[in-house]
Amino acid sequence: MDAKSTDNDQRFVMKKTARAPANIAFIKYWGKQDERLRLPLNPSISINLSDVHTVTTVEFSPDYPEDVVEIRMQNTTYKNSLQRNVVGEETIRKSEQERVVAHLNRIRKIARMRLSAKVVSANNFPSSSGVASSASGFAALTVAAAAAARLKLSERELTILARMGSGSACRSIPDGFVMWEAAATSEESYAYSLFPESYWDIRDIVVIVARHMKEVPSTEGMRKAGSSPLLPGRIRGVTQKIGLLKRALEKRDFPTLGRIIEEDSVSMHAVMVTQDPPVFYWNDATITVIRAVSAWRDNGLPVYATLDAGPNVHVMCEGKDEEKVTQKITDILGVQQIIINHPAKGAHFIDGHLF
Ligand code: DP6
Repeated sequence: MDAKSTDNDQRFVMKKTARAPANIAFIKYWGKQDERLRLPLNPSISINLSDVHTVTTVEFSPDYPEDVVEIRMQNTTYKNSLQRNVVGEETIRKSEQERVVAHLNRIRKIARMRLSAKVVSANNFPSSSGVASSASGFAALTVAAAAAARLKLSERELTILARMGSGSACRSIPDGFVMWEAAATSEESYAYSLFPESYWDIRDIVVIVARHMKEVPSTEGMRKAGSSPLLPGRIRGVTQKIGLLKRALEKRDFPTLGRIIEEDSVSMHAVMVTQDPPVFYWNDATITVIRAVSAWRDNGLPVYATLDAGPNVHVMCEGKDEEKVTQKITDILGVQQIIINHPAKGAHFIDGHLF
């Protein structure tokens, strides 16, 4: 996050706009040690995504008798996409609006103020389908609302605040390659940049195979993680995995990085499907893409797959292989759209507002 962009010129207007990227975790977060504070069971590592983001404008004003929250799904043309996104406006679940108001309450409490706010938020990608909309959404909301409320918070404090809105949101605030610490206290569970976005020219190609809202939101699905007999093993192995992943990053060793990413995704989904009740996020096209990735790899192309809580597949490769991989993906039946991402900077203010 770029601290320089903070400006305090607007003495009487409490309005700010921020943009935050979605992120894809290399080592995933699935399970909390504290539900209210959103303290994770294990540390996680991710990169910010350049072409999937949320822009949010927040204004606190006596003109608003109560909080107004509008979440837009735009008819955006993705810069890198093969097709136009024609999702259109989607009705956002009421519970998500309530989550936004709860987050505004946290910020009002710290700022010791009571003013209501208007919040308008726009994603440039299909919401709730495994592209982490809550991550970019709560990161943008945190950065815009804290500044609109005239709070002067450090990046670390912003990540802690964002984490309380949605755990993975804390990783969308620092730049590039990001680590989120697991800890027993709120102050110690924060996120920070391991490497800037320019550190390594890798790609995350989001392969959209479904656009509907996912049936089980991650907060709800994660609540039952403890019922999986596989969870203890996953958590036990995580410290070693984090060490190996960091070493692969330091050496820019892509095959090792890819192997760890893919293994961790499978491990998280193994927990999901062995929970009580089980949560299945994959569909037929998901499996087709995963199988194709594995076959391309067997033929010598260094390419790996990872998934969040949804059916869409994130295909990872190095920048030099982007064209080859993209071509192969577009030949797969069931692929609706692809979004090509490189590592990106974290949340930052932008000029102009959404209202
Ligand atoms: C599967 O951050 O959406 O994407 O903290 O309850 O809001 P809450 O959950 P959320 O969970 C994301 C889980 C994941 C894996 C990850 O991004 O690490």
